[in-house]
Amino acid sequence: MAASVLILNGPNLDRLGTREPAIYGTATFADLVALCTAEALTLGLAADVRQSNDEAELIGWLHEAADSNSPVIINPAAFTHYSYALRDACALVESPLIEVHLSNPAAREEFRQTSVISGVADGVIAGFGIESYRLALHAVARMTKG
Ligand code: DQA
Repeated sequence: MAASVLILNGPNLDRLGTREPAIYGTATFADLVALCTAEALTLGLAADVRQSNDEAELIGWLHEAADSNSPVIINPAAFTHYSYALRDACALVESPLIEVHLSNPAAREEFRQTSVISGVADGVIAGFGIESYRLALHAVARMTKG
């Protein structure tokens, strides 16, 4: 059976397509799910793509990943910048954990230039729109090979 990668998305990412398209692009969340599902298949992985506006739900999913030893790709959205609770939950995951962003937060407002998640991630991919997720899936495939 293909290894399952949990692809977790934080608040407001359900609004992709209409949310600040000049920054986040015009691809919808459904487009993101389709890209991840198809790309994972080509890599021999299974993508389980989820989105929540609720910090507690995201933390529950990270606990699930920790318990099942599943690799994680996470776009924590605004929680990136201040959620120590999410950071601590990410730290529980021993499988590869990649932080992704559609935009490049380092090139945006000052408050976005801090990530409390990066210190517990294996790597960060940012600034390539939904392609960031494709790149992250390739990273997970390499890290979990063999
Ligand atoms: C984001 C960047 C965050 O600063 C922002 O709060 C988001 C999306 C991104 O993917 O570019 O919601 O994580």
